[in-house]
Amino acid sequence: MTTLRGLILSGGSGTRLRPLTYTSAKQLVPVANKPVLFYGIEAMVAAGIEDITIIISPQTGDEIRAVAGDGSRWGIRLRYVVQEQPAGLAHAVLTAEESLGSSPFAMYLGDNLLRDGIEGFATRFREAGAEALILLQHVPNPSSYGVAELEDGRVVRLTEKPAEPKSDLALVGVYMFRPSIFDACRAIQPSPRGELEITDAIQWLIDSGKVIEPHVVTGWWKDTGQWADMMEANRLVLDAIERDINGEVHESDVEGRVVLEAGARIERCRIRGPVVIGAGAVVRDAYVGPYTAIGPNCHVDHCEIENSILLEGAIIADLETRLEGSLIGRNVRVRRSQSKPKAYRLLVGDNSEIKIP
Ligand code: TTP
Repeated sequence: MTTLRGLILSGGSGTRLRPLTYTSAKQLVPVANKPVLFYGIEAMVAAGIEDITIIISPQTGDEIRAVAGDGSRWGIRLRYVVQEQPAGLAHAVLTAEESLGSSPFAMYLGDNLLRDGIEGFATRFREAGAEALILLQHVPNPSSYGVAELEDGRVVRLTEKPAEPKSDLALVGVYMFRPSIFDACRAIQPSPRGELEITDAIQWLIDSGKVIEPHVVTGWWKDTGQWADMMEANRLVLDAIERDINGEVHESDVEGRVVLEAGARIERCRIRGPVVIGAGAVVRDAYVGPYTAIGPNCHVDHCEIENSILLEGAIIADLETRLEGSLIGRNVRVRRSQSKPKAYRLLVGDNSEIKIP
């Protein structure tokens, strides 16, 4: 069987996910309490890939290295390569050239999630002779994506965010390449937005007469690079969890598919799944509604919360109104104060958003 290596792009600047990305990598934001990046690594492991290069940025690379480690927890090897500037996906591919060597490889955008993984596509690519394989999905708003035009089952043109798209087939953030992609990435020029675009590199392969095989993905696909998509990804992943209660439950109703990790404690609560509650979290006198992910060591006290993501160590206490559709960063505290005068008292970082009823 052809050995396939992996390339995961986890550099970039993550501007659309500020303020979380001021202090952390967007690929480490948890979806159902697991970093987005781990879904990509696990999809590759399931496809039989045992050697993965991860592209990291100088700003968030150390954190990614510390969290993902050397790959031994998945029984694989992880290598890291720093991309000094977020100069585009094709630039990231060139940065990884030495690490990838002459193997064909699967490339996965580190902030993407694919319900059905990549096993089927990897098998197809190992068996077929195509120069590259790209994944596509029908979308209602193609001009926000790279768009593919097909003829007779082959890709004939790729356009990055076209004003007048010729099809509704968007490029999903997973690709299969052979080493010919490096020459393609070297041959192209930066786009008007100043990036070396992977769509231009693939177009160069097409123009050189190479066969690019398309595959249309039917299961859901999410790019978590923006707040609303991150929330949607959390709902989609939580929709598939199984009930698993390992923490302590005192005088509480726990309905449906709830994961309570060992070391978490709930007291006098109503929890209605799908919900995950991380290790060391304490939830007291609270209602936790569907599609909520409470991170490790969070405290939730005397409040109602639904359809929200709480990152590690967040404290939510004594709220009169339900917290809904919220993404709360690490160690953030949201609580009612007893001190006078009765007023909103905020200490909030740049680009945060607060909506008050
Ligand atoms: P994007 O989400 O397209 O780019 P970004 O991370 O810079 O985000 P924003 O537009 O909000 O500023 O990138 C997709 C994935 O590829 C993501 O995981 C980051 C990664 N990436 C790199 O590793 N190197 C790069 O040069 C770029 C542009 C992205």
